[in-house]
Amino acid sequence: MVSPILTSPEAVDTLTYAQPQVARVTHVALDLALDFDSKRVGGTAELTVLAAPGAQEIVLDSNGLEIGQVTDGAGRALPYTMGEPDPRGGKGAPLTITLDGAETLRIAYRAPADASALQWLSPEQTKGGVHPFLFSQGQAILNRTWIPTQDSPGIRQTWEARITAPEPLDVVMSGVRQGEPESLGNGRRAFTFVMDKPVPPYLIAIAAGDIDFKAIGPRTGVWAEPATLDRAWREVNDTEEMVVAAEELYGEYRWGRYDMIVLPPAFPYGGMENPVMTFLTPTFIAGDRSNNGLVAHELAHSWSGNLVTNAVWGDSWLNEGVTTYFENRIVEAVYGKQRAEQEAALMFANIKETLAEVGEDAPGTALSTDGGYQLGSAIAYDKGAFLLRTVESVVGRERFDDWLRQWFDNHAFQPATSELFYEDMMANLVQGEAEAQALMLREWIFEPGLPANVAKPDPAAFATVDAAVTAYGATGAIPGAYAQWSSAERQRFLDNIPKQRSADQLATLDRALGLSGTGNNEELFLWLELALANRYQPAVPQVEAFLAEVGRAKFVRPLFKVLWDQGDWGQPIAQRIYADTRGGYHAVTRAGVDAIVGEPAQ
Ligand code: BES
Ligand code: ZN
Repeated sequence: MVSPILTSPEAVDTLTYAQPQVARVTHVALDLALDFDSKRVGGTAELTVLAAPGAQEIVLDSNGLEIGQVTDGAGRALPYTMGEPDPRGGKGAPLTITLDGAETLRIAYRAPADASALQWLSPEQTKGGVHPFLFSQGQAILNRTWIPTQDSPGIRQTWEARITAPEPLDVVMSGVRQGEPESLGNGRRAFTFVMDKPVPPYLIAIAAGDIDFKAIGPRTGVWAEPATLDRAWREVNDTEEMVVAAEELYGEYRWGRYDMIVLPPAFPYGGMENPVMTFLTPTFIAGDRSNNGLVAHELAHSWSGNLVTNAVWGDSWLNEGVTTYFENRIVEAVYGKQRAEQEAALMFANIKETLAEVGEDAPGTALSTDGGYQLGSAIAYDKGAFLLRTVESVVGRERFDDWLRQWFDNHAFQPATSELFYEDMMANLVQGEAEAQALMLREWIFEPGLPANVAKPDPAAFATVDAAVTAYGATGAIPGAYAQWSSAERQRFLDNIPKQRSADQLATLDRALGLSGTGNNEELFLWLELALANRYQPAVPQVEAFLAEVGRAKFVRPLFKVLWDQGDWGQPIAQRIYADTRGGYHAVTRAGVDAIVGEPAQ
């Protein structure tokens, strides 16, 4: 099965060099060795090509790849050229190969030591402290730093891989592992994987380290370092239930197994929806499953994103917004309406906060943006989710769920655009002119700001907390029930209390609410941010320890930002910390902090 390519102008990906209508990759077979000493991945990629009649050449994406030789399936050398790299970085360079009738290309290559998709961790960056670790992060356009293919979300490819790694490391990928690892007799083992469904190439992912597996349900389980596995397993124990809930909402889970790997804390994201193997940060583990909306989110991507995929990154709300809505529906099904409404209210506040910051008419606040202008998570994620929530409230849940289910079914294993989403909704959901008017779909998708018909969260969701915020602001009264509150309630409180606090007030808060001792990193982050914004010296050692361990950009970037904003007080602290921690951060996190602090002088 070869997935179609969309050819409409708005489906043209400007972040790829590929010309898929001329010649496209349909299958990738990797044979790679992981070398932890040199931090290099190398070997061969065999590509299956589908070319239009008369096509002379195929264009692939490469960012820093060292190409050895290119041959056809019979070993006949094929000429190739590597173009000039795009000056803005990221996009890399076109690798153009003369086809000469070839339907198979074999490329011998090596990824650069600084491939931004790959992070090589020293043993000290792992819990076990003995073995090194490797993981990859492909989204959005990083996989071209370690795989020579057409790296565009609209060009789906099946793939397989044979990977060798030193013993005793285990290797997992975003494909199904085949049989037992094969011992090679030289201290290395070979692992093989297959992904027989066509996926966008950003979803090819690998992790290797000293990891073990523990089953949850019949098709779910979790990998983690031995020292993390039990804590991780308890935290994700509702996963099988979540898969059942997701299937009841929007149809069969089509990928076979749903496993997860909890990575070391250097992982730059909360989670990544790599098929059959979601990648997770360990920083979501709180002991009470309060942050496992993250798992619901990555699981939901098995439909929105992995089945139906944004054709261009400017439409990433089709992945992230639809997923954030779906996540909330899974949370509702598994944990009830109250938790779901509270989490929705946090999202709504996030939209409002961003719009207040950048302005209701900032072009980047439209859902559909041409060219990846990104505004944190508020627009693609939360405004996207609130579009779906609003449609649900207008047409009713039953009709809406039927529509969303058919969207996933009818576009399964295919790319999509904002226009396609709009047309599909008009054709298959909206009934009559009055309903079309009430929905304001084009305004939602293509205009900045938040349309007037937004289905606001239930004000009752946080009534108690909001009253406690007001009381604290007025009299300094500490809410006695804080310890009994849900994590969403605590986050609402910490995010809304007055931003200017004296050292005494901060000390009182910390003592009464146990903020610096919380095991919940979302809450700890809000506390540290508040403390630094008020130049609260006692928090600095904890910030330093946190930033030395955690590489999750969502936490790391804002903490450096708030330090930096504190001028003479905070900037020397930021520079001192960053000089030590920068080398341990993933390229994504490093780029984000460099933009705030600047690269430290060597
Ligand atoms: N697909 C994203 C992560 C991503 C986005 C990587 C853009 C690269 C570019 C993933 O599904 C995600 O949204 N992660 C969030 C989870 C949260 C919203 C529950 C994260 O990492 O914080
Ligand atoms: Zn996501």
